[in-house]
Amino acid sequence: MEPKGWPGVVYHEGGIEHRLPTEVDRDRKGPAGKYRAGFLNPAMSGNRTRSVLMLEHIGKTLLGGVKKIQILDALCATGIRTRRWLEETSEGVSSRLRIKMCDMDEEALGWARANLENDDLKKNVVVIQGDARKEILRQGWHWIDLDPYGSPVPFLDLAMQATARRSVISISATDTAALSGSSPGPLRRRYGARVHMDGLKHDSGLRILLASAAKAAARHDRVIRPLLSVWDSHHLRVTILVERSKMGASAIEENLGWRVASPDDSTVDSAIQAGLLPRHDSGSRPMHVMLPLYEYPNLNTGVSGPLWTGRIGDPDVMASMSEAAAEGICKVDDLEMNQKEVRRAKQAVRRICDEGKAIHGSHLVITDALPSFVGEGDPPSPSKMAEALREDGFCAEVSRYAEPSFRTDAPWSAVLQAFRGLS
Ligand SMILES: C[S@@+](CC[C@H](N)C(=O)[O-])C[C@H]1O[C@@H](n2cnc3c(N)ncnc32)[C@H](O)[C@@H]1O
Repeated sequence: MEPKGWPGVVYHEGGIEHRLPTEVDRDRKGPAGKYRAGFLNPAMSGNRTRSVLMLEHIGKTLLGGVKKIQILDALCATGIRTRRWLEETSEGVSSRLRIKMCDMDEEALGWARANLENDDLKKNVVVIQGDARKEILRQGWHWIDLDPYGSPVPFLDLAMQATARRSVISISATDTAALSGSSPGPLRRRYGARVHMDGLKHDSGLRILLASAAKAAARHDRVIRPLLSVWDSHHLRVTILVERSKMGASAIEENLGWRVASPDDSTVDSAIQAGLLPRHDSGSRPMHVMLPLYEYPNLNTGVSGPLWTGRIGDPDVMASMSEAAAEGICKVDDLEMNQKEVRRAKQAVRRICDEGKAIHGSHLVITDALPSFVGEGDPPSPSKMAEALREDGFCAEVSRYAEPSFRTDAPWSAVLQAFRGLS
């Protein structure tokens, strides 16, 4: 049965045409605000674009041997994410998708069902009205998408129990005030963590979300590997590979720890001893260092954590998020409309592909903070800093981050030398 108000209004995103009960401003930014049934947040379109590219890549690589990829779009609303997966991935991937869409909201699901009628692969989709917390546990999944309003914490333990031997979980969080440290109460309650509110607060927030996922995984004998972590204006999104491993789960603390701002010499030494800073940084004082969990630092001195201290992305996955790949998924017939979607899709992956080349680097440097930290000069351009460091033989790339910044594996002394060279 068609939902009340069908066919509503047309909304274009990526390569599809989707129908909604009311008009939404395609360029709207920010959180969803007060919920209305059938609401779709266009500010999440970049999130969905990255999720299509991620599924395309993982469907051919890590899940390449899986004949039927069991997916739960756990909080699907009007179902646009599932529809984009079906329509925008290549046939070799889309034909293998077996998707269950779930939401509590019957009205939103009415729009989801009616929209699905346009998709040739609708036979491979089941739509369920109910509580995702129950649906998650009904079977094992290769892919779980968690896109709640607010914090994903209520879903994490459930999702970890419902993964197959090897699975992907994508987790959105819109409780950004908590995760960036401006609401310390909810941050402590939900994530058991704190954030020092300097230029790296968004990166610390992503790492705290990863730490929560890693701890939930370990409770269920699983380990995580971050594939992509992005802070995108009003929300965060991390995508992780989850695999079963009791031994790995027991070693969870190897990837958890603290971030310390303006560390003293002994803190730098401890970071090097723990393998969280390369030996080539010995004798320098970087802007930030990571410490392992057991080095419980003085919490009143610029400390964030406990957080994930390992890599927050996978270079191969990040390399697959190219602007060319993003352009390739936009296939709307209307040329003018398609051009707009191409622009938006490219923006959704901007810098990710290149940043992957330096994702292993220990330093994420906020360029605007360099002059006051060093005590001289003006804020340098992140691209010029990265270029100078690459010329010196290091990996360095401009970062897709909330502040002008770059990532590098160069020693801190080389970062300072490049900064002074540009001043
Ligand atoms: C942010 S929206 C999802 C947006 C959607 N993924 C998209 O890309 O358009 C969150 C959805 O979660 C649903 N929801 C909240 N709690 C739920 C629960 N426990 N079980 C099922 N659905 C739930 C809401 O009805 C809402 O549609």
